[in-house]
Amino acid sequence: MLKLDLSHVIKFLPESELNSYNSAAVEANKTLENGTGKGSDFRGWLNLPKDISANEIAEIKQCADDLSGCSDIIIVIGIGGSYLGARAVIDALSDNFNSLKNRSERGAPLILFAGNNISEDYHAELVNLLDKFDYSVIVISKSGTTTEPALGFRLLKLHIEAKYGKKDAKKRIAAVTDKQKGALKNLADSEGYKTFVIPDDIGGRYSVLTPVGLLPIAAAGFNIENLLAGAKNMMQICFDKTNIHDNPANLYAAARNALYKNGKAIEILASFTPNLSYFIEWWKQLFGESEGKDEKGIFPAGVNFTTDLHSMGQWMQEGTRNIFETVIKVNSNKFTLKVPNDKDNLDELNYLSNKRLGEINKMAELGTMLAHVEGGVPNISVTIEKIDEFNLGELIYFFEKACGISGYLLGVNPFNQPGVEAYKKNMFALLNKPGFEKLKAEIENKLNK
Ligand code: PA5
Repeated sequence: MLKLDLSHVIKFLPESELNSYNSAAVEANKTLENGTGKGSDFRGWLNLPKDISANEIAEIKQCADDLSGCSDIIIVIGIGGSYLGARAVIDALSDNFNSLKNRSERGAPLILFAGNNISEDYHAELVNLLDKFDYSVIVISKSGTTTEPALGFRLLKLHIEAKYGKKDAKKRIAAVTDKQKGALKNLADSEGYKTFVIPDDIGGRYSVLTPVGLLPIAAAGFNIENLLAGAKNMMQICFDKTNIHDNPANLYAAARNALYKNGKAIEILASFTPNLSYFIEWWKQLFGESEGKDEKGIFPAGVNFTTDLHSMGQWMQEGTRNIFETVIKVNSNKFTLKVPNDKDNLDELNYLSNKRLGEINKMAELGTMLAHVEGGVPNISVTIEKIDEFNLGELIYFFEKACGISGYLLGVNPFNQPGVEAYKKNMFALLNKPGFEKLKAEIENKLNK
């Protein structure tokens, strides 16, 4: 089971303050569970691991099998919460060199992502690649109107129809979107695509355990029932507890808010395995979009160690002391790989002979924690037993629950994202989208000043 360790935080905080945040976190958890806080219409994710039906899981698995069966590659089109969760889980569970293996070695299609940027080169290269491979598309957008995935899908729709013919192309496309509104819903209905629904009461960044995450994860060959079982386990652990120490989500939310109050405005999430680098990206979105508003919020940053110890390590050790660090630790590895002995020892590494790389990595982890704490960086650790579906499910639910509680402790609505509209409006005006003429004139005025 997931373990939270705050022993390297306590010395940085006045005890009375941590205690008062602990009590406030118990209340914030009740507010979240009782639906009495801001944005309470968006709490569908809270009970999702137990509410999702066996029928829906079976339907997701069937569609994943259908798409996988005819594809070397599956393209997942989506942006923000409509792709980061799937990518986090798939990257965590996949072989690091999957893209160099062929379909039968992998045992599942390669999952690639599109529509999460507007790079001309990225999409041109993707379309060129798809000329050579059999592929399917999963297009995901809750609103159904987001520009980046809509553009990505328009490009691939044209390509897949030209490649397979309109009738067969349809069998290679699945859409995940709102149950009744949005351009993607209309398009999917009129073309007759297989469609899955993102529930109204679940926002993008909390949607990984809906078909948004489950369909791509199943298509990549991973066990979505175990993922949901892990989330369900954590849901029970984090359910309303009067003793704060029994609820890791409460404890984490309380500690990070107490640190924030004490000048630690940046939280850096670190891991010592490259498999978790997209998990860190998912976490950044979850906390960044949930808390960064009303001119408040901890800035969520991420690092991959030991790689980034050689780039960000200096800053973290001795830079401005406004950071704290949360480390995701993993107890065991999939493989065993030992350092070979070398009789010449020209690289002077024989002191490591016969040690597992995992053991060396653990010492790097411990050494880094000791150095950073010594350098004034409070350290939180979240330990999981291994990287598998169950443990990832626990980790996902733990962070989601902590994020809801933490947002309420901070006094913001953790379920909206009004700030992401600003760039979109400017972009639409600059691209002459009908309805944005007035804003276009205002922007031109500003630019000409
Ligand atoms: O978390 C969120 O709500 C956002 O990141 C959305 O997921 C993102 O903007 C994509 O939106 P949509 O799924 O409507 O295309």
